Amino acid sequence: MNAFRTSIFITLAVACPFGAQVFAQASKKQPPPPRNAPAAPPAPMQRKQPSQRPQPPQRPQTPPPNARTPQFGDPLPALTRRELQEFNDGKDAFEGVETEASGLGPIFNGFSCVICHSAPAVGGGSVFNVTRFGHTTNGVFNPLTSLGGSLLQEREINSAVHEVVPPEANVVAQRNTTPLFGLGLIEAIPDAEILRHVKPRPVDGVLGKVSQVQDVATGRTMIGRFGWKAQIATLLTFSAEAYVNEMGITNRLFPVENAPNGNAQLLSQYDTVADPEDTLDARGRGDIDRIAEFMQWLAAPPRLPLTPNAIAGRGLFQSTGCANCHVPVMRTGQNRSASLRNKEVWLYSDLLLHDMGALGDGIAQGTADVRDMKTAPLWGLRESAPYLHDGRAATVDEAIKAHDGEAKVAKDRYLKLNQRQMDQLLEFLGTI
Ligand code: HEC
Ligand code: HEC
Repeated sequence: MNAFRTSIFITLAVACPFGAQVFAQASKKQPPPPRNAPAAPPAPMQRKQPSQRPQPPQRPQTPPPNARTPQFGDPLPALTRRELQEFNDGKDAFEGVETEASGLGPIFNGFSCVICHSAPAVGGGSVFNVTRFGHTTNGVFNPLTSLGGSLLQEREINSAVHEVVPPEANVVAQRNTTPLFGLGLIEAIPDAEILRHVKPRPVDGVLGKVSQVQDVATGRTMIGRFGWKAQIATLLTFSAEAYVNEMGITNRLFPVENAPNGNAQLLSQYDTVADPEDTLDARGRGDIDRIAEFMQWLAAPPRLPLTPNAIAGRGLFQSTGCANCHVPVMRTGQNRSASLRNKEVWLYSDLLLHDMGALGDGIAQGTADVRDMKTAPLWGLRESAPYLHDGRAATVDEAIKAHDGEAKVAKDRYLKLNQRQMDQLLEFLGTI
């Protein structure tokens, strides 16, 4: 395990902006801290910016390239008043702290979405991992559902319900938290646009296949696009799934609580809040809807201006074959919102699954087999270390060097670049 990866348990006590007293509170769900509380993440404008020194007003100036671009954690530009309201209400729900009284657990991984999705701003990633386990015999993966798999909940409201990786598991994998910036744009990419990138025959060893999922929120068969295995198709389903699996909050889409290592009797003893715990308002909406809206309106990571070296690096990104999978741009289709309609999405991913050979994580989910991983979108890379599905890579260079399987040709070409070219490629990746 990586040295700078900390167990959630230890770090919550130190880094949790709300303090450990959360567990002691017997009252209702806590509101998020006030927007300007000192512990809140830095306001976007306080973050490192490409030179934005104030200029004397009388001199005509071309505005700095990113002056009007939303920064990490900002809403999409030009939202309607109603959409902006949804973003703000959703952010409150995303930051809300669950307690035992509001339905947290009995087993869980975090008591708030923002605990894990916080860096470099609310809605980002973090150094926190979650654990998946299962059993593989003759290449067939069994998620050990009856024993609490495949996701481990490592925290609990009472030590009597502590969940462990059962001895039956012979595969244990870590999953790194991914940032959520720009996910509304990714959701708005039509299935046909993703299908376009599946290759009929290998190009530099690259094929790619879609992840087919039965979406719980819509009931439809759709192309999965969220998560390391593209295991989920819509933000509403991810919101509801994370609410029950990471926090233990049952909701209208996932009304059934996780039993600790599958033990239903223990569950009934310690699960005292009636399901679904995510209660609905007068309009029939719950926190899962508000949280999904926050993610939908979250802006894409801001791009930095290209330096001459970065421009050279962009050429190398193409010529080494990275772009066969990390497709620079896709387009959204028709959409109710003008902010999501017919937009370019500079995500650097084909959203397809690839056989990554030794880099696969050994867990099968939906149509994603044990060695298949979704091409990780590379936008915002400069703020999302550590890298890869288990966070094993501290640097982008290490992440590239771990590529295997369908990405072996590109990786080998990268290794043959001279130092200057490697630096140019990495400089480019630091701007996207
Ligand atoms: C304990 C840490 C933790 C908590 C709490 C948590 N997440 Fe996550 N989140 C993760 C990890 C780890 C992943 C990657 C999971 C995977 O793909 O298997 C992830 C992935 C996601 C993704 C997919 C992102 C992408 O780019 O595809 C979404 C959406 C998401 N989380 C939303 C939420 C929401 C909403 C909540 C609160 C209801 C939440 N998460 C709570 C750790 C957490
Ligand atoms: C066959 C498709 C494919 C090719 C070609 C490919 N990648 Fe990837 N890349 C992936 C997949 C899949 C992942 C996620 C792997 C994982 O973590 O298991 C990934 C992850 C990454 C990451 C880590 C992202 C993160 O957020 O953790 C970086 C950086 C990266 N690739 C850069 C490159 C570069 C640079 C090249 C060209 C030299 C390249 N990739 C070529 C498929 C590919």
